[in-house]
Amino acid sequence: MKIVVVGAGAIGSLFAAYLTKSKEEIWLLDKNKERAAKINTTGILVEEPNDNWQVKIKATAVPSDIGKADLILLCVKSFSTKLALEQISPLLKESTKILSLQNGVGNLEIISEFSGEDRVIGGITNQGATWIDVGRIHHAGVGETIIGTANGKTPVEMRSIREIFNQVGLETKMSRDIKSLIWSKLIINVGINALSAITRLPNGLLTEFEGTKRILRDAVTEATRIAKRKRIKLIFDDPLAKVEAVCENTAPNLSSMLQDVLRKKRTEIDFINGVIVRLGQELGIAVPTNKLLLDLIKTIEASYEQSGKLT
Ligand code: PAF
Repeated sequence: MKIVVVGAGAIGSLFAAYLTKSKEEIWLLDKNKERAAKINTTGILVEEPNDNWQVKIKATAVPSDIGKADLILLCVKSFSTKLALEQISPLLKESTKILSLQNGVGNLEIISEFSGEDRVIGGITNQGATWIDVGRIHHAGVGETIIGTANGKTPVEMRSIREIFNQVGLETKMSRDIKSLIWSKLIINVGINALSAITRLPNGLLTEFEGTKRILRDAVTEATRIAKRKRIKLIFDDPLAKVEAVCENTAPNLSSMLQDVLRKKRTEIDFINGVIVRLGQELGIAVPTNKLLLDLIKTIEASYEQSGKLT
């Protein structure tokens, strides 16, 4: 199987590095030429609590170097999905599947519109990875990955993906209800990401302070209310307990949104708390905590140039 991981961020680099342990042909496609060239030369270094390991990998910014792919693993930021799909067009053949492991709600709809629903596999991952430098990541929290299709079927390709991921040490399960999965992950990101980016705290510390504990609880409660109204069944019975457990299991990890803010990059807020705020307005459900988190992150994004400067 030829597997192409798209996006050399923390999660893309993590999955690409682990997948090189399989017997499949693995490529990393990144839109940035210099980044792809560096990874192609030096490989990917994965730092883990008990071990640091480095692997070689074929990386490029040019899709025609790769040819047709069997599986494309989309690991780009949600706001780059459309652009990434244009880039991967030359890789598609009749049977190519596209697996999205992105955060937030809305990506599967964008991919289905582009390539037809049959190609699309959705996924969530609770792996916690921090991008340190090009081709260098810190794997701070181990979490499971769950994949599924929109129509609830389990095509043979999906079972192969599960097998390959499990073989290389990326614990993976299948689900028949992808919407419920994506929403369950959304709830986790709603509670952790913006709050950690604003406070600049690693995931584990969010549950250590009264203030952050309360805000996390309120954001999660509002999002759960929206999910309930939309009749979306979450994969856990106690959403707050689950989000707190993820904080604990990925304690040293800097959430992806905190990493973005520290690097003064655009965040995925529109696909996370932004979704809750939009749906809250549509459904007439008050979501003040999510609105506040959205507004603060938007302000942080808009003021990267000014922030930290005394007048
Ligand atoms: O976006 C993230 O950082 C991750 O989805 C998670 C699970 C919150 C861990 O940091």
